[in-house]
Amino acid sequence: MHSEGNVFMKKILVVHGPNLQLLGEREVSVYGKVTLSEINAALQKEAAALGVEIEILQSNHEGAMVDRVGSARSEFAGILINPAAYTHTSVAIRDALAACGLPAVEVHLSHIYKREDFRQHSMTAPACVAQVTGFGKDSYLLGLRGLVAYASAKKPTVSSPKTAKKAPAARKRK
Ligand code: DQA
Repeated sequence: MHSEGNVFMKKILVVHGPNLQLLGEREVSVYGKVTLSEINAALQKEAAALGVEIEILQSNHEGAMVDRVGSARSEFAGILINPAAYTHTSVAIRDALAACGLPAVEVHLSHIYKREDFRQHSMTAPACVAQVTGFGKDSYLLGLRGLVAYASAKKPTVSSPKTAKKAPAARKRK
């Protein structure tokens, strides 16, 4: 049977959290001049190259993000998310990510572990398979690549600390 269009193409949900609509004018010294439209255009290009479709949501509302993540299971193969400020506070988004059962990758433009103390903890990352932080726009593109590889392999691309073999001890120099 002939299938129309891209019925079988994997779909990835991209979620941008609060204030990211202001990129390009917001704290340029931290986030750079890149706008959300430029990030979305780059993601569309990367998605096409990877052979996946993306749907993009930007929301300033925690509940709207929870709703979309919560209904994603039947439609998407994975979630790429920058929860923005909710990264550091939202048990609800963490629970939604855990509950939806889809692999998610958390991304940040800035290097959150080099910033204020309150940003150095991610509430949401433990519900994700990976996190990419500090590469600006490229965090999104690297995150999408990793997510698509992960979703296609349906298993971790790297071993977890529990299964990883202990590295051989370095030999002492005489
Ligand atoms: C951010 C980092 C968050 O701490 C901050 O609240 C943001 C953006 C980032 O992409 O670097 O809004 O998620």
